[in-house]
Amino acid sequence: MREVLKYFTLLLLFNFSLGKTNFLFIIVDDLRPVLGCYSDGKSVTPNIDRLAKNGITFNKAYAQQALCAPSRNSFLTSRRPDTLRLYDFYSYWRQTAGNFTTLPQYLKNHGYMTVSIGKVFHPGISSNNSDDSPYSWSREAFHPATNRYKDSPLCTSDSNKLPARNLVCPVDIPSMPLGTLPDIENSEAAKKFLNDYKINLKKNNGDKPFFLAVGFEKPHIPLKHPREYLRLHPLEKFKLTDYYWPDNVSSVAYNPWTDLREREDVRKLNLTFPWEKIPEDFGKTILQSYYSSVSYIDQLIGEIIAELTTSGLYNNTIVILTSDHGWSLGEHSQWGKYSNFDVAVRVPLIVSLPGHYSNNFSSAKKIKTNAIIELVDLFPTIAELSGNPIDVCPENKSEITCSEGISFVPVINAILHNKTVKWKRAAFSQYPRPGAIPTWSPNSDKPRLHQITIMGYTLRTKSHRYTAWIKFDNVTLTSDWNTLIADELYDHTLDPHEMMNQVNNTDYLTIKNKLKKLLKNGWRQSFPRHM
Ligand SMILES: *[C@@H]1O[C@H](CO)[C@@H](O)[C@H](O)[C@H]1NC(C)=O
Ligand SMILES: *[C@@H]1O[C@H](CO)[C@@H](O)[C@H](O)[C@H]1NC(C)=O
Ligand SMILES: *[C@@H]1O[C@H](CO)[C@@H](O)[C@H](O)[C@H]1NC(C)=O
Ligand SMILES: *[C@@H]1O[C@H](CO)[C@@H](O)[C@H](O)[C@H]1NC(C)=O
Ligand SMILES: *[C@@H]1O[C@H](CO)[C@@H](O)[C@H](O)[C@H]1NC(C)=O
Ligand SMILES: *[C@@H]1O[C@H](CO)[C@@H](O)[C@H](O)[C@H]1NC(C)=O
Repeated sequence: MREVLKYFTLLLLFNFSLGKTNFLFIIVDDLRPVLGCYSDGKSVTPNIDRLAKNGITFNKAYAQQALCAPSRNSFLTSRRPDTLRLYDFYSYWRQTAGNFTTLPQYLKNHGYMTVSIGKVFHPGISSNNSDDSPYSWSREAFHPATNRYKDSPLCTSDSNKLPARNLVCPVDIPSMPLGTLPDIENSEAAKKFLNDYKINLKKNNGDKPFFLAVGFEKPHIPLKHPREYLRLHPLEKFKLTDYYWPDNVSSVAYNPWTDLREREDVRKLNLTFPWEKIPEDFGKTILQSYYSSVSYIDQLIGEIIAELTTSGLYNNTIVILTSDHGWSLGEHSQWGKYSNFDVAVRVPLIVSLPGHYSNNFSSAKKIKTNAIIELVDLFPTIAELSGNPIDVCPENKSEITCSEGISFVPVINAILHNKTVKWKRAAFSQYPRPGAIPTWSPNSDKPRLHQITIMGYTLRTKSHRYTAWIKFDNVTLTSDWNTLIADELYDHTLDPHEMMNQVNNTDYLTIKNKLKKLLKNGWRQSFPRHM
């Protein structure tokens, strides 16, 4: 029996190295790790937790910028925002930065069928209003018909029967336009793709492997989800955090959550801009609907995985689940993305490798890792898993197919063989601001390129976060390390919620200088020597 299993595993690995492995790449918009597999006791996410059991959960994975379009373009091309020169929503890299190859384009060029369902590229100018077609995808990207109602006044509550454009928005599906919601349409399209693929596979043995990218749109605001998920999340379970805005952090670090203030239910609170806090009672309903939205997406993900299984594709498909960035849920009296705090840049990342490694998994001692991962690492990792590795971009030369991250296959292998591996020291992220004082106009949360005057660079090591806000020239697109506006240093071993800025604490002078140098020298210097 043992011999047979060994043989079987070898065969799978053999096919795997030939690039016959499929990929299901799931991106959940604005999802921070409020998941059972991340030990969040309030979450109800049985399907994602099950996925994590067949794979590896990355505890320290970080986005390169906590904003949709810059983050997505960054991980889909494996280039940093400074290379793409995209910090807002308003440019397309092929026109403004370089004709860089994307992850799906690369796989397509290596024999994959690449398919986009839902929000994968950010829609609009940043993907040329075409999801980067015709380069990235083998067929036209799928977008749900109900997307056109995504901001319509459809939310009702007991106290207000008139449908409104609210932030908190539980709904009854039968009363929705077309009787459905965008993410339900997305999951139906994904299931249909898998079923069609299975039918074609039976008819035609030589079918191409697939890279199926499914982008769920929730828990992005409005927090519109089927009402029944509230039952999993009674209001009593929630409480607003005590982690208020710390006194000695510059206001340049603050994001005034303008998009929440634009929603009708938040507007009714008459909060003073920018510092007045969301009241406890309302804040609890935001938490409740965020967690409910996540449970709703978890259910849809479960349905797609079930279809993978019934289609017989499960053992030959690597599933990767992540998000474009995190989301503050009241920490520092902040809400939303738009910052350099850990809650905004940290993402969930689960890599599930059923089949290939099932033997090794049962013997691996741990399936959670604290290895530092950056979302730019996804492209080289998936490329290597497909049997077509790509190189790190050379330092002073422009190449269209290369990576500004590194493949974390060595981390996966080390985990499977209960070994350790020398790994990168830090994750780098950044966030721009129009000025040091929070403003509505220009919008501090979402400055346009020509409004940016300050760039906040941040890095996260296993134990610390250091952030420097420095002068930025929006014409030459360069940052000036000689003009420091403010900086922050958090010791995660003592202060996981980033409440104590230690930057002026002399006890931390050595570590601060070390991290500042690492940040200034940039991502390349943090890579392990042998890479
Ligand atoms: C590996 O691929 C070959 C040819 O594509 C196929 O016949 C074989 O069944 C595959 N093996 C496994 C274990 O999937
Ligand atoms: C950019 O790359 C694509 C795909 O490789 C190619 O078809 C296109 O011609 C290139 N465009 C330019 C301007 O070089
Ligand atoms: C972007 O889209 C426009 C309009 O469809 C098209 O003319 C242009 O060639 C596209 N840009 C690139 C780089 O493909
Ligand atoms: C907000 O202001 C409006 C108009 O001034 C007032 O009618 C309403 O009661 C206020 N709401 C709260 C929650 O204070
Ligand atoms: C996947 O393969 C393993 C053996 O490696 C087998 O035990 C399991 O039943 C398979 N699962 C599915 C869903 O096919
Ligand atoms: C900032 O405030 C925290 C407590 O609020 C304190 O522990 C820390 O030392 C202060 N840092 C600086 C730089 O003053």
